[in-house]
Amino acid sequence: MNNIALETAMNGLALEATMNVLALGTAINVLALGTAVNELAFDTEMNDIALETAMNGLALETEWSSIEEIDTRRYSMEHATQNLGEEVARAYERIRTRIWKTPLMFSSYLSVEDSTQVYLKLDSEQITGSFKVRGAFNKILTLKKTSPEVLTRGFTTASTGNHGLACLYACGSCGCALEIFCREGVCPSKLAALQSLGATVTLYGQDCVDAEIRARHTAESTGRTYISPYNDVDVMAGNGTVGYEIYEDLPEVDYVLVAVGGGGFIGGAAAYLKHRNPNIQVIGCQPRNSKVMYESVKAGHIVHEPSLDTLSDGTSGDVEDKAVTFPVCARYVDDWILVGEQEISDAVYHILNTHHKIIEGSAGVTVAAYLANKDRFKGSKVVLVLCGANIATDTLRNILDQHKT
Ligand SMILES: Cc1ncc(COP(=O)(O)O)c(C=O)c1O
Repeated sequence: MNNIALETAMNGLALEATMNVLALGTAINVLALGTAVNELAFDTEMNDIALETAMNGLALETEWSSIEEIDTRRYSMEHATQNLGEEVARAYERIRTRIWKTPLMFSSYLSVEDSTQVYLKLDSEQITGSFKVRGAFNKILTLKKTSPEVLTRGFTTASTGNHGLACLYACGSCGCALEIFCREGVCPSKLAALQSLGATVTLYGQDCVDAEIRARHTAESTGRTYISPYNDVDVMAGNGTVGYEIYEDLPEVDYVLVAVGGGGFIGGAAAYLKHRNPNIQVIGCQPRNSKVMYESVKAGHIVHEPSLDTLSDGTSGDVEDKAVTFPVCARYVDDWILVGEQEISDAVYHILNTHHKIIEGSAGVTVAAYLANKDRFKGSKVVLVLCGANIATDTLRNILDQHKT
């Protein structure tokens, strides 16, 4: 790729001048350069009984009398698995004027002539450079309506970076205070971006779950409200509006591939898509180096396993105990694909070299999953969700160096 084309590509995606501080990052070490991508299907029958139980005893939002009660109900498995599709539609009405409807772009490079049609959902071009602003706004605007005094007291959150950027933006536009907790090894360029935007950031723990628990406790002791990056039905419903937009633009879609970390994003999107058409196949994609939700759904309970470094820093790390995303993923995600670090690197390069779009490693995960399983999708309409663009410049440079021709 020549320098001018690269320069154009790199400038084209800078949605806000402030996001340019991502250039400050240091490279992620690519540890496991596995080449194979395993497609993994398994029987989710073990979850059926639990989910059947979970389907009973539903309450309408309007019946909830206090914010404490709402929080309790919103963390419940029953509410999450049953009503989430409808919640996503309500969330879209709530946030649609605050976010951008992102393009669903046909990819002639990834499609196969007279057979597979591949579309890219460019939420990498969403405000703050990822889909996360959808969930942040839905949480804050929901509380604004039900319990405005909560906004006066402010928020805490925990993040691998993108959710923090999104909360900072949403809190800023609603005039709310925010403290962000990140794990000590958080992607340095995302940390630099947060700090350059004036965020109060506290580093805590080795895994993102450590930072999440710390942020929860801090919220309890300070009277602030904690906004989980995934373990929250309002956040899930807001982030799931990506599914709403996909269905609006391509109702005949056969497969939707989504990167999974804590499972809130895919949970919301899948609940909505299945609510509209149960035949749409939603596939969760994770790096082989960090695959807690995949292992958890396979086991029928949340499995805590350590994560290795991955280019997909946005999705990496453990999942909170009793996360509401677990039953949602178990119920709505049809299948899983794991990818290796080399595949993620190749995918990020592929999108830059063909469409001249910058994506971060987490977005490369869905592209990698498709590229390694092209035959499986033959004759179908496939959407690959590009979930974020916030890649550190040094990481991008390493990827380009790897792909010198
Ligand atoms: C770019 C990107 N993609 C995907 C995810 C995964 O979202 P979830 O944790 O809801 O599964 C994240 C989470 O931070 C992210 O930043």
